[in-house]
Amino acid sequence: MREIPSDCGRVIVGGKEELFAQAVALTEAQHRVARPGRFLWALTGGSTPAAFYQWCVASRALPDALVRETHFTVSDERHVLLSSPESNFGNAERALFAPLNVPDEHRHPWMVAWPVVEAAEAYRKTLLLLAGPGRAYDVCFLGMGDDCHTASLFPCTPLLRDDGGLLFGGQEVPGKGWRLTITPTGLRACGLVVVMALGAGKAEALHRVMRGPSDPLNVPSQILKSCADRVVWLVDEAAAARL
Ligand code: 6PG
Repeated sequence: MREIPSDCGRVIVGGKEELFAQAVALTEAQHRVARPGRFLWALTGGSTPAAFYQWCVASRALPDALVRETHFTVSDERHVLLSSPESNFGNAERALFAPLNVPDEHRHPWMVAWPVVEAAEAYRKTLLLLAGPGRAYDVCFLGMGDDCHTASLFPCTPLLRDDGGLLFGGQEVPGKGWRLTITPTGLRACGLVVVMALGAGKAEALHRVMRGPSDPLNVPSQILKSCADRVVWLVDEAAAARL
């Protein structure tokens, strides 16, 4: 693996499985310094986490103590039932939490059965109890779309313009329906943010984020510059091609 300088955080370049192992190692390091019994890890959606879950289960990569002592959630969610194949938490549940026997009381989905505003508010209250005032996740995993969105912060969406200082919110994303998501303020309140971007399809987006002009409204992943000291990007050679 090698590292590339950036003002968006550490950028580690390597093969897919090396990066997955690095993602686990970074999470374990955070867990070692976390408040006992209060370790909060947010996963995310997309094809990369799906491959990561499969790898974690097949290679038994997550130590038992980490699984037992972690509270799991997702950084963002579609406003659909957990049984939907569109549900980020539902997918994590089926592919990771169930096979690893994560205790039920350590599984914290967004409250998607409620209208979106109430769902975001209920999640804020749950996280306040779990994480404490002004804190979001100990570790937040993210991906990045070809349009440079991260979590459910899509280009030109309202929470990018103004999140009201809230850690979590809901918004309608044109063409994609309602989304619940960590906000820019929430991202700055995480202990560590790990962004995984794999494949040639991410090369142009990574170039825009890291080498393009500053324009976080159109290039949402650039919001991570404001907490770059706590951000690690895990990217493969194809994604790093234009850095
Ligand atoms: C989602 C994610 C989204 C995702 C990116 C990258 O719910 O889909 O939160 O931000 O991480 O779109 O997805 P891939 O892993 O499929 O490239």
